[in-house]
Amino acid sequence: MSTDQIARTFVEYYEERGHRRITGSTLLPPPGDPVLFTTSGMHPLTPYLEGRPHPLGRRLVNLQRCLRTTDLDEVGDRTHLTVFEMLGTWSLGDYEGPSSLEWGYGLLTEGFGVDPALLHVTVFGGDDRTGPDTASLELWQGHGVPVELTVEDNWWSNGPTGPCGPDSEIFLWTGDTPPRSTPTGDDRWVEVWNHVMMRHRRLADGSLVPLPQRNVDTGLGLERLASLLQGRTSVFECDVFDPWRRLVPVLWPLDEPSLRLVYDHLRSAVVVIGDGTLPAPTGRGYVLRRLIRRVLTVLRRDDPSRGLGDLPDELVPHTLDHFRQETDPDTVRRVLLEEEHRFDRLLERGRRVLARPRFRGPLGEEDFRYLHDTHGLPRDLVLSLRPQ
Ligand code: ALA
Repeated sequence: MSTDQIARTFVEYYEERGHRRITGSTLLPPPGDPVLFTTSGMHPLTPYLEGRPHPLGRRLVNLQRCLRTTDLDEVGDRTHLTVFEMLGTWSLGDYEGPSSLEWGYGLLTEGFGVDPALLHVTVFGGDDRTGPDTASLELWQGHGVPVELTVEDNWWSNGPTGPCGPDSEIFLWTGDTPPRSTPTGDDRWVEVWNHVMMRHRRLADGSLVPLPQRNVDTGLGLERLASLLQGRTSVFECDVFDPWRRLVPVLWPLDEPSLRLVYDHLRSAVVVIGDGTLPAPTGRGYVLRRLIRRVLTVLRRDDPSRGLGDLPDELVPHTLDHFRQETDPDTVRRVLLEEEHRFDRLLERGRRVLARPRFRGPLGEEDFRYLHDTHGLPRDLVLSLRPQ
């Protein structure tokens, strides 16, 4: 099944069960929201999870693009991407957790053909404030799916305050031996779907109060599931990366970790620009700037003549199409090239400044501060010019 087919199957399955599809899936959160980017499918729904009636009703389904910079250093492993798509379902005070898990199990095993013997789940085991999630436990036991009980790993929130609750996570075995151990004991168990029983709100003082309604919020990482269903070993090998894997290594022969970084960061940069963000010294624009500059640093490491002007034409429109963005591909390319140009000027200045006698020896914290504050040279860049 292609990624598009997986998304369609998912949405239709829930539409048949009374869910309405929400449209609109930009990375930019609504005005007034303190976070820079949408990090989860539930994020734009926060007011509705807190009780405001949603115009489409109490059962929703969506495909939401998300950006997580908390995982930036994990990019390049088998399962993490900076921009990814999350399939999500919501019960806004309608059905409860067991119905959600029952449908999830049905879709995975019957709809997507996952072997039930390759599943493991985790369930909230209870702490001194909230009891164990026995309803989820019983549902899984009824299907004979092995359950691991945890505490912190099975409590989900989108931030320090706001809606939160116990969750039940579904893992798929990816090893080439028969399944063994548990999700916390063996990382060949890969999390594919999280069902959060979102019934609480955490206040600024850390206390929990009940939300006005008992919700369920689920999220499934599309590229991750696609790579598993397609029998691939990493998210970078699922079909959405096909053109990247076909075109980039012949242009820039890099090692596999560097290629993964280039695919991930460039694709993310295209989507961020596609949603209307431009590089800037702070905020969203700074995230974009970092993505582009990390790519350039990797590309230039062993060949300073490499540049984004050589990026194969197909990749930008392919990415914009996939994310259903209408931004003109030429605009995206122009933003990338302008940022590259700015970076080149900064590198030039960096080389000139670092050649001064003052910086010949090892650099200390004060040097880094001075280089940053006076010359606009970030630490990463200084280190790439002058490894310590
Ligand atoms: N909001 C939950 C998550 O992102 C489903 O994992």
